[in-house]
Amino acid sequence: MIKTAKFLVSNTDPNKCPAPTKPEFAFIGRSNVGKSSLINMLTNHKGLAKTSGRPGKTQLINHFVIDEKWFMVDLPGYGFAKVSKTLKGEWDKMIKGYLTQRENLEAIFVLIDSRLEPQKIDLEFILWCAENEVPIVLIFTKADKLSHSKVQGNVSNFLKAAKGIFEETPLYFVTSAESAKGREEVLEFIDAVTED
Ligand code: GTP
Ligand code: MG
Repeated sequence: MIKTAKFLVSNTDPNKCPAPTKPEFAFIGRSNVGKSSLINMLTNHKGLAKTSGRPGKTQLINHFVIDEKWFMVDLPGYGFAKVSKTLKGEWDKMIKGYLTQRENLEAIFVLIDSRLEPQKIDLEFILWCAENEVPIVLIFTKADKLSHSKVQGNVSNFLKAAKGIFEETPLYFVTSAESAKGREEVLEFIDAVTED
């Protein structure tokens, strides 16, 4: 269980993030996939990260410090259709700069909507991660919205579609911000990485 979770700072410039003195884990994925909700669920803090039914809520690189031990980062989503080309360019510069330069980044959680068939934009993003040696863990979100067997079907379809991108099947978790499904598993993974 997480004991303390504190908001630190929001940034557009990866170089202005907090000094990289603690292991860091970031949450990314399509707009509206549930990144901010997952952060609130994991930390057990309802209003910690701002959530919204409207995609495009999170616009900045947001740092939180957890148990004074590691950094948790909420990132703006990709693939929001209403964003202009200039803004997409800005997103690329900001996020891809952050992901490739942040030296204390242990892993990024790439969130995938468990209700959907494999989406091209998610596959393109994880391909970019593989090419740039950004270590990823997959999280299939919103598992409360459909039956266990449908979730399993979508998970295995996604892993099949991602075959060839990675040498080994990436680690993955299935979560729900509503029921807190997956909380222990995700936090155990983070503990294991931060312990050694
Ligand atoms: P951006 O910041 O816009 O990129 O979105 P985000 O990925 O941070 O999504 P956010 O957490 O704001 O959630 C988007 C919507 O999905 C909200 O209406 C949430 O209540 C809903 N939602 C998120 N996670 C879950 C979940 O596990 N189950 C259900 N039923 N709804 C969820
Ligand atoms: Mg958000």
